[in-house]
Amino acid sequence: MIDLRSDTVTRPSKEMLEAMIKSPVGDDVYGDDPTVNALEERVASMFGKEAGLFTPTGSLSNQLGIRLLVKPGEELILDQTAHIARAELGAAAAFSGITTRTFPSVHGKLSAKVALELAHPDAGPYLVSTKAIAVEDTHNFGGGTVQSIDEIKNLYHGAQEMQLPLHLDGARIWNAHVASGTSFTEYAKYFETMSVCFSKGLGAPIGSMLLSTKAKIAEARIWRKRYGAGMRQIGLLAGAVNFALDHNINRLKIDHERAGIIATSCNLAKPDTNIVALDLSDYPFDAAQYVATLKENGILAGALGKNFVRLVTHMDLTDDDIQQVCHILKRTLVA
Ligand SMILES: Cc1ncc(COP(=O)(O)O)c(C=O)c1O
Repeated sequence: MIDLRSDTVTRPSKEMLEAMIKSPVGDDVYGDDPTVNALEERVASMFGKEAGLFTPTGSLSNQLGIRLLVKPGEELILDQTAHIARAELGAAAAFSGITTRTFPSVHGKLSAKVALELAHPDAGPYLVSTKAIAVEDTHNFGGGTVQSIDEIKNLYHGAQEMQLPLHLDGARIWNAHVASGTSFTEYAKYFETMSVCFSKGLGAPIGSMLLSTKAKIAEARIWRKRYGAGMRQIGLLAGAVNFALDHNINRLKIDHERAGIIATSCNLAKPDTNIVALDLSDYPFDAAQYVATLKENGILAGALGKNFVRLVTHMDLTDDDIQQVCHILKRTLVA
């Protein structure tokens, strides 16, 4: 099977496993794991942030980030197809009492104007007050869309006028950086809290990180433990992340090129990064039916909407796999 369901399906290489075994460990709940401590400093400094907190998942680092900015009964605004809105199973409401209100987007592309028009920071006693805005970059359900840094800046300046902080869901900020050339520190300037994932295109088996100020990360550390995600000898995992950061950032351009090859084979515009979004609205089959057809032909893909099939490239694919995928898509994608 050629697995294009996600860039999370990769398996650690022999070299990554060796790096894990060699990593010194300690009890991280006591702050004793030297590999995790060094990794938190490393990633914080890559982004020019004061501190970082290693988390098992991107969902958790998002949730910790937004709860630092928004209190129960207050509002986070974000686009309607954001991972935080669609795919974290209501965690913002369930865990933090946060109301989310969403604005529309095309392919997840941020419009500062649209976001700022929805924001209502001091809504008085009758309406919910907005306390933060979240941005996703790259945008997963939008099809790996890279946000324009100018739009992020516009959002930041408009939000500043309303004293609203921004949170970044940067699960795939690595892809955004490789595709746009925008530096990590430039992205990070505009966000009070940000989450980055190592378990997507970078190929680590697990791990994300919340980045912010020292004070906010100290608070997030307490909430991480309260949520039951205080972890012990996780230097093993941090070792995998160090390996991924050393070896797997620049190679993301290969994933982007391959996604472009797949898209071109179906007469679609090249995607910004590693996610091909197939819209089947004009075809006589829906996403679930087409995913079943692909499976019969040895390809795993995701049906993420009635007519939306997602194909994601990643480091465990070969050029031959990509040729095979193009061949099957051309044969089966018949209107
Ligand atoms: C944009 C985005 N944010 C957050 C997450 C959550 O990451 P995790 O699966 O580690 O919770 C994902 C997962 O695919 C994602 O695509």
